[in-house]
Amino acid sequence: MASSENKTARTLADLGATQPAQISTLFLEARERFDSDSLSARDESSWKQFRDTWLGRKSGVLTQITDNWLKTATPELKRVVGAALNKLRAHVESQIEERRKAIESGAEESAAARERMDLSLPGVIRPLGSHHLIRQVFQQIEDIFFSIGFSVVEGPEIETPYYNFEALNIPEFHPVRDDMDTFYLDLPKGAPQPLLLRTHTSPMQIRTMEKRQPPVRVIVPGKVYRRDNPDATHSFIFHQVEGLAVDQDITFCDFTGTIEYFVKQFFGAGVKTRFRPSYFPFTEPSVEFDVSCIFCGGSGAAAGGGTCSKCKGSGWIELFGAGMVDPAVYGFVKYDAKKVSGFAFGMGIDRLAMLKYGIDDIQVFFQNDVRFLRQFP
Ligand code: PHE
Repeated sequence: MASSENKTARTLADLGATQPAQISTLFLEARERFDSDSLSARDESSWKQFRDTWLGRKSGVLTQITDNWLKTATPELKRVVGAALNKLRAHVESQIEERRKAIESGAEESAAARERMDLSLPGVIRPLGSHHLIRQVFQQIEDIFFSIGFSVVEGPEIETPYYNFEALNIPEFHPVRDDMDTFYLDLPKGAPQPLLLRTHTSPMQIRTMEKRQPPVRVIVPGKVYRRDNPDATHSFIFHQVEGLAVDQDITFCDFTGTIEYFVKQFFGAGVKTRFRPSYFPFTEPSVEFDVSCIFCGGSGAAAGGGTCSKCKGSGWIELFGAGMVDPAVYGFVKYDAKKVSGFAFGMGIDRLAMLKYGIDDIQVFFQNDVRFLRQFP
């Protein structure tokens, strides 16, 4: 090959080529060199080098042949050299283009091969989550109240003292505020009013009655906040469902019937309920609802003898606070206290869930340990 390489750099006279047959041989050699060269063009960059070697304007092989063989040919040989050069050029150009196409489609093919999906590979397993137990209990409670005509409303966790206290008949210096003295937000100086994290869902009683005329029948699931130190039964954040029913002729009987229906649906028909007098500024009369102890069946005795530790031997477990809406509250929402009556209740969801599922530490609801969560798929 080296010899033919040198040959294109020399003139025909120099090479001693005076006969057409010699010209043919020279061109045949050039063509063979080209064909073997073309094998080296395997990718884009080697193809470019190959193309420049042959077609480069200044010193490509075809330029050399033109300069050294054609231009210096004797008049008799010029036609033969010209014809042979044209043939070689056509071959070179078409072959170079062929190589380009082959390299391009080869690259595409290998890219396609790289990206091909192997459907036999095992997939990525994404574990399905489940609802947190608190969310599940919310849903159970909502379903029970839906079935007797209540609807769900939700409200803000950041409240004004007016909705959290005043409109619920808890004036500024009322002692019950002590229980609920809570988290106030740091506001910039000159803020129009203080803001706090609601301590109960009861503010939604007021917000609902401001917006709707009786009959009102709503429940309010949500988070509430109190300055309680964490222990097995206290958390500074917990969950409540508020209930409110107001209409023209709602009686204490409707109230106890509704609560009893709920408790039996939630815990099972076997439980008994009772209520005891209590006090809330926004209900009158106020009661605490108790359910017969789910752990000892109301006997007060532990299975292995001795007293039941859950109800401390009383056979009853305190469930939640409730009462008939205090007429003073209607004054804040411009309802006519002479015409309407109703009841309200507020239950701690964490407590209900703990009782129903035998959980003895409220903190597990907030730790999100999957070993706990997995037990309630
Ligand atoms: N909001 C009261 C509490 O959190 C519960 C309650 C609600 C009592 C509605 C009566 C009526 O303790």
